[in-house]
Amino acid sequence: MSTGKLDGRTAVVTGAGQGIGRGIAERFAREGAAVAVVDVNEPNIAEVVDGIRSEGGTALAVTCDVSKRDQVDAAAAQITEQLGPISVLVSNAGVTRPAMLWKMTEEQWDTVLDVHLKGSFYWLQAVVGPMREARAGNIIFTTSGAGLIGSVGQINYSVAKAGLLGMTRSASRELAAYNIIVNAVAPAAATPMTETIRTDERFKDKYLEGIPLNRWAESDEIAGTYVFLASEDASYVTGQVISVDGGRTMVR
Ligand SMILES: NC(=O)c1ccc[n+]([C@@H]2O[C@H](COP(=O)([O-])OP(=O)(O)OC[C@H]3O[C@@H](n4cnc5c(N)ncnc54)[C@H](O)[C@@H]3O)[C@@H](O)[C@H]2O)c1
Repeated sequence: MSTGKLDGRTAVVTGAGQGIGRGIAERFAREGAAVAVVDVNEPNIAEVVDGIRSEGGTALAVTCDVSKRDQVDAAAAQITEQLGPISVLVSNAGVTRPAMLWKMTEEQWDTVLDVHLKGSFYWLQAVVGPMREARAGNIIFTTSGAGLIGSVGQINYSVAKAGLLGMTRSASRELAAYNIIVNAVAPAAATPMTETIRTDERFKDKYLEGIPLNRWAESDEIAGTYVFLASEDASYVTGQVISVDGGRTMVR
């Protein structure tokens, strides 16, 4: 008999094809959740779903561009039909389009804000109706140190991630009356997204010096915090942001 922390939960994890989202999807499945593996990268989705099923877990492959409302609504309907009502949302899909602010194009700005902000808001709206009816739900947004302390060459990303803090706090206040908790995680991990700052001679040593634990985390080292926020253990935690970043953004 499974005794996972997420037994009976149906979880959506966006951006679950690789990196942090993949680590979350795999850990959620091991903790007993039925997991919708949502991403735009179909081959990666298939690999993650196969891996979860081969361990005896329950997973559903869902192709969806989170920045397109019709695709989000269709995905939510498919998940509800095939896995049951959604009880946990992890909004994690993300992209970067770096440029110094004086060179940034409107397309770079729009792409990043659309994926992070619209993508998170579309998913929030897609799950909140059934969660309100159930008077239960756990919603977790993925922000970043960039949203807390800023980031050079990423004003679009920093604005999007700071916006997600506002989304977390307002949604947690609006939804508290329905027993729906809303939190955010600010992670840092060795994923494809961070390859340049981890490997480029211009950045890598300086960046590592700024991490008190002086190393990069693997994606599955981040997942435990999401398990906590998706579980009964977090029933009195809402409107918070938890940094899982080796201490990089601690108050100085
Ligand atoms: N890695 C870090 O150190 C770090 C730090 C702070 C915040 N984050 C945030 O964590 C989240 C995951 O980052 P990661 O490092 O795993 O990145 P990653 O690039 O390795 O993975 C991101 C995933 O999101 C998917 N994706 C991108 N656009 C999408 C869209 N429109 N619709 C659906 N899926 C889409 C990609 O296909 C990919 O599988 C992101 O929100 C990122 O901003 C990461």
